[in-house]
Amino acid sequence: MSEPRKILVTSALPYANGSIHLGHMLEYIQTDMWVRFQKHRGNQCIYVCADDAHGSAIMLRAEKEGITPEQLIANVQAEHSADFADFLVDFDNFHSTHAEENRELSSQIYLKLRDAGHIATRSITQYFDPEKKMFLADRFIKGTCPKCGTEDQYGDNCEKCGATYAPTDLKDPKSAISGATPVLKDSQHFFFKLPDFQQMLQTWTRSGTLQDAVANKIAEWLDAGLQQWDISRDAPYFGFEIPDEPGKYFYVWLDAPIGYMASFKNLCNRTPELDFDAFWGKDSTAELYHFIGKDIVNFHALFWPAMLEGAGYRKPTGINVHGYLTVNGQKMSKSRGTFIKARTYLDHLSPEYLRYYYAAKLGRGVDDLDLNLEDFVQKVNSDLVGKVVNIASRCAGFINKGNAGVMVDTNAAPELTDAFLAAAPSIADAYEARDFARAMREIMGLADRANAWIADKAPWSLNKQEGKQDEVQAICATGVNLFRQLVIFLKPVLPLLAADAEAFLNVAPLTWNDHATLLSNHQLNEFKPLMTRIDPVKVQAMTDASKEDLTASQTDTGEAAPAGNGELAKDPLSPEIEFDTFAAVDLRVALIVKAEHVEGADKLLRLTLDIGDETRNVFSGIKSAYPDPSKLDGRLTMMIANLKPRKMKFGISEGMVMAAGPGGAEIYLLSPDSGAKPGQRIK
Ligand code: MSP
Ligand code: ZN
Repeated sequence: MSEPRKILVTSALPYANGSIHLGHMLEYIQTDMWVRFQKHRGNQCIYVCADDAHGSAIMLRAEKEGITPEQLIANVQAEHSADFADFLVDFDNFHSTHAEENRELSSQIYLKLRDAGHIATRSITQYFDPEKKMFLADRFIKGTCPKCGTEDQYGDNCEKCGATYAPTDLKDPKSAISGATPVLKDSQHFFFKLPDFQQMLQTWTRSGTLQDAVANKIAEWLDAGLQQWDISRDAPYFGFEIPDEPGKYFYVWLDAPIGYMASFKNLCNRTPELDFDAFWGKDSTAELYHFIGKDIVNFHALFWPAMLEGAGYRKPTGINVHGYLTVNGQKMSKSRGTFIKARTYLDHLSPEYLRYYYAAKLGRGVDDLDLNLEDFVQKVNSDLVGKVVNIASRCAGFINKGNAGVMVDTNAAPELTDAFLAAAPSIADAYEARDFARAMREIMGLADRANAWIADKAPWSLNKQEGKQDEVQAICATGVNLFRQLVIFLKPVLPLLAADAEAFLNVAPLTWNDHATLLSNHQLNEFKPLMTRIDPVKVQAMTDASKEDLTASQTDTGEAAPAGNGELAKDPLSPEIEFDTFAAVDLRVALIVKAEHVEGADKLLRLTLDIGDETRNVFSGIKSAYPDPSKLDGRLTMMIANLKPRKMKFGISEGMVMAAGPGGAEIYLLSPDSGAKPGQRIK
């Protein structure tokens, strides 16, 4: 056995001014599954996080609620902690950036950067609210778009025409906080000299620390040249005052990543065997990973490593970036009830359903992940209840009744238990690479084989025959052993199911290496149902409740980097694909022979498509735009003909037709020019 690794892992620090929703949960669940996997394998893995408690958005919200910012962040921290715990996200420490450890580390890092010459100062001119007596970030200024004349637009871009501009270009500007007309005012700002680190970043971002798509995006920024980063804000601001600079505060994004260190420091302070420098010192041999969403890549892959380097600390081993969550194929939406808070989900459904669904869909890339609620119900019910738990429930009763709950020592399927053993390294590799989707596919493949074998042996029929008792017991003991192996593989994703299974199996907490052994002559405990099917009614109740509990707006946390004063604007990644990837898509002209309603489906139409040499059955979520499907009969459209067939509740869908638009009544099916023939391909 190799030495256990020492690993420190973080998830991004959630803003302390809003509730956790299922988009955030994608990140915390992804990270937690990876951490649990490392612990399961016997590595030392420490997972820290904290609330991101600073910034003007938090200050203003507290003011609006008539409480102090300290009270607000304490309330939110209690809420966040409960949400994470109930989703089985098991932090070793959940701290706050508004904490003494963070104040000390932030000051110390700043002073090291300053003393090494990496801090510059200069005066900048900004809008100032004369009533509130504060400088206004772009999002706190509203006015008329200089391009198209639409009123009530934010200080940096127009929602109507998409123009971007400086707040000083707005016509008739007003403070969004007080309504006063802002005045221009100068103030001294502090800048971190990011260009000093251009060389280091060029090397570091290409040294296996980033996924390719992320490294490519960063390369564009590096090629464009780095700019100094404005790290100060003027009072009033909720944050830490800059040492030796009264009235100047660290911008929230300066002390937020230092919050990772501070949370770990806080843990060290009460855990004598943990050594802070062993993880953060320049010569640390520990691994350090930050899990983040694609919207905050610049902070983590440019500013943060540069700060660490400049202040004499080690840099991260990897930045693991994930995409955004969509629900039913679209951005989460309050009016559709798909902006679902963590707590609203938990009020209706078990956390492990979502953990499994995310695992089943999470690859190692930065693509967005869709939570399709129909597919969610179908997949969880079919995989977890129908495949995994089913194995135990099929076998337990016979062992209980026929042999007083004792598993006999005969292995009735050595080739199967061996195959499970042989699959372990590949499953472990998939987990290690964060390819949870592949891990789940391989595990479910094993579950299919176990079920097929039991169905073939049919202990329920044998049990009715004379003299077949030994055989029944051998089959069922083997079935329970296969189930146990599956539970070991699934434990990082499904810790509660694993705990219940351990109780039934009457064993100590399972670790990864236990998959190599089998139980024999072993007393089981009584079998209780381990997981129930998702009732679609509960999913509906959850979306209904989401429509109700989200009338007040909280989605925009408002701490994005303000563009235009020396910072990189946020640039969500849409990964480039190789030509070969595109060329692999079989795009064809399809004739809609028939379009019809699907009994019991609110969104789907069933399309019968003629693609030249064959006829395809495709389910398409376009009903909202085509309430009378017969109007589509005889129309030409485009389809992806080599999409893997997908089993849906209503049948198999053999491809996908192409449509554009935001959804609802606005879905536009694509059509070729007239003259195109069914089956013709895109070249
Ligand atoms: N406070 C900053 C992070 C500071 S880290 C030093 C922040 N907070 S956040 O609350 O807006 O987001 C926390 C994490 O959740 C980020 O990694 C973000 O990308 C992720 N997500 C927020 N909404 C998301 C989705 N809809 N989908 C997937 N991840 C999402 O950013
Ligand atoms: Zn405009």
